[in-house]
Amino acid sequence: MIENLSLIKHASGAPGLRLFGLGAEFKPVNGLKKLQSLFNKNALWAKGRRTAQLKKMLANSNVIITIWNNYELIGFGRATTDQVYRAVLWDIVVSQDVQGFGLGKLIIEALLSDEKIKSTEKVYLMTTNGQDFYAQLGFKVENKQSLMLIKQK
Ligand SMILES: CC(C)(COP(=O)(O)OP(=O)(O)OC[C@H]1O[C@@H](n2cnc3c(N)ncnc32)[C@H](O)[C@@H]1OP(=O)(O)O)[C@@H](O)C(=O)NCCC(=O)NCCS
Repeated sequence: MIENLSLIKHASGAPGLRLFGLGAEFKPVNGLKKLQSLFNKNALWAKGRRTAQLKKMLANSNVIITIWNNYELIGFGRATTDQVYRAVLWDIVVSQDVQGFGLGKLIIEALLSDEKIKSTEKVYLMTTNGQDFYAQLGFKVENKQSLMLIKQK
């Protein structure tokens, strides 16, 4: 049950969350462990990420959004951007027990409304089964291009 919702738009690299585990109301809540747990439980592609890797991931992300219910992390999303041409959204996750309450939409809207994203020509994302969710937020499937990949690890 959602009691006390807060959405945090972090500074680039999320220093408070990354270095001190800060969550809602700037309280130290072991935020990195909570992020790890949110990914492990809810994001098939992001299971097993270590906290050292998560720190590096945050440090190199330009726009980072977290959503908290009191001091529990229930939503996350991030983006990388060159601020002119291209931005890419990554790791959009809402905790399973609070899915369907509009939090995913809040995360996407918060990312898209950031100046560093708004200033780009195109915003990309990759999804396995979230097409319908993203379509009603304005994204279109791009059939003229292919996703290409080198797996390195
Ligand atoms: C996909 C996800 C981020 C959506 O977050 P959410 O908080 O459950 O979604 P919301 O409640 O904000 O939904 C907003 C709208 O999208 C719709 N929607 C949500 N998930 C949907 C889906 N999978 N397919 C179609 N529509 C969907 C909702 O009905 C709602 O529509 P409305 O505004 O007309 O009522 C969340 O379900 C999630 O984390 N899933 C697991 C991880 C994942 O698959 N991430 C995305 C893939 S990259």
